[in-house]
Amino acid sequence: MKDILQELEDRRKAARAGGGEARVAAQHAKGKLTARERIELLLDEGSFEEFDMFVAHRCTDFGMPDTRPAGDGVVTGWGTVNGRMVYVFSQDFTVFGGSLSETHAQKICKVMDMAIQNGAPVIGINDSGGARIQEGVASLAGYAEVFQRNIMASGVVPQISVIMGPCAGGAVYSPAITDFIFMVKDSSYMFVTGPDVVKTVTNEIVTAEELGGASTHTRKSSVADGAFENDVETLAEVRRLVDFLPLNNREKPPVRPFFDNVARVEDSLDTLIPDNPNTPYDMKELILKVADESDFFEIQAEYAKNIITGFIRIEGSTVGVVANQPMVLAGCLDIDASRKAARFVRFCDAFEIPILTLVDVPGFLPGTSQEYGGVIKHGAKLLFAYGEATVPKVTVITRKAYGGAYDVMASKHLRGDFNYAWPTAEIAVMGAKGAVEILYRSELGDKDKIAQRTKDYENRFANPFVAAEKGFIDEVIMPHSTRRRVARAFASLRGKKLVNPWKKHDNIPL
Ligand code: HXC
Repeated sequence: MKDILQELEDRRKAARAGGGEARVAAQHAKGKLTARERIELLLDEGSFEEFDMFVAHRCTDFGMPDTRPAGDGVVTGWGTVNGRMVYVFSQDFTVFGGSLSETHAQKICKVMDMAIQNGAPVIGINDSGGARIQEGVASLAGYAEVFQRNIMASGVVPQISVIMGPCAGGAVYSPAITDFIFMVKDSSYMFVTGPDVVKTVTNEIVTAEELGGASTHTRKSSVADGAFENDVETLAEVRRLVDFLPLNNREKPPVRPFFDNVARVEDSLDTLIPDNPNTPYDMKELILKVADESDFFEIQAEYAKNIITGFIRIEGSTVGVVANQPMVLAGCLDIDASRKAARFVRFCDAFEIPILTLVDVPGFLPGTSQEYGGVIKHGAKLLFAYGEATVPKVTVITRKAYGGAYDVMASKHLRGDFNYAWPTAEIAVMGAKGAVEILYRSELGDKDKIAQRTKDYENRFANPFVAAEKGFIDEVIMPHSTRRRVARAFASLRGKKLVNPWKKHDNIPL
């Protein structure tokens, strides 16, 4: 009996050793942790329960039967993050470069199936050379099995991808389907075709980092939602994000203890809006002052900075925030901002996370590059996302809400539940200058007359009261009481029930 128990221990030890000391040392030398070390950091101490530790590949080509390491290059199982269940897989680069074989894929599929069935998020740690070259099409089939599960899990359980090494070729499409992608700076990259193929086909000379590193994907392509300095920080931030999310689409987001006064008065907000309507101010200040304990988890902080997206808590409950940022491009909506915010709004709606929208938007960005790029269809994504969302929606207009962008930003007409405006709000078809230039074109030569016309237009429209008279604004509120008003609004909406007409699925302008 003792021998049998000892055998189990020996087998476990061998499995835990992964690709062996030398490869583990090489992994560490690159500043990367091993698959198991990453799981240890991601999950609560001692909570990890492993599946399929002894699974080995079944490949018979290229001398593979001689090397059948236990686990086959991926560690899978479940555990908890601050006491809440998550499923996890972590590719082990020290075993066949973390490459995906038929059995490796089966292990991933097993935890994904369980996650869907039991209603818990999936966190995938990617560090892989891609398809297991020795297995050929069996490996491709394995990828497709994973993709199919990613698709089925979408909108059912949150899926988070963490890229901690190579992720190339078709392998990128699993993370691409998931809800959030986080990367590690300087040690991870994602691309469909690598630098060598790029050079052959397009003659472009580019490094792996330039082509698909964290900076590229957080700033240029928007493929990734965030990038952090190293493995440790990245995993700590993933834990932070998980704390904001519900476990599945049937559960409410978690309510955390909070130590902040719901009625906190912020006098400084009364002077947040500068006297000159063209002077920018930092919308993040308002977000931090509305949030419990100023805790804000920003999504896509480095991309389309003219719109801010992320999670806060109000009275301990998760709220998704979408806010125009007047500091960048005057906060206007463009293709990138519309896409970024639309995806975020849809995530929130899929997982019953209420949405707070903070509006200071002068309109859509004009120009040929926007029109040629399809701003019509991309802007419509955000409009569509807001219009179909059935979660509680609270909107605060701080300053400009002009034109179509007024409609888009969770207006009353798109089923906004509470639409508040600060006294500094300006709700109009366009700014006074533009309006006067169109309405009084014949008088443009007469500066005094135009100045008077502009003043008249401002007096009429550069305020929230015309909209409030029509009931498009529910209430004009004092900036200093925004947190209290917003918190009460969300509290009153906890029982909200709104159902869209039955359909197979919608046809959002992709
Ligand atoms: C089998 C692989 C492998 C793979 C790496 N290894 N990739 N084994 N299949 N795809 C093995 C290596 O043989 C080596 O084994 C160990 O992993 C570490 O690899 P190194 O090359 O020494 O590491 P490094 O120098 O860090 O380079 C990492 C790498 C490189 C850039 C990822 O290994 C590489 O280019 N691999 C091939 C990538 C690739 O073309 N994959 C197929 C993509 S197509 P030893 O025993 O020496 O430690 C694809 C299609 C998916 O994925 C389609 C889905 C629809």
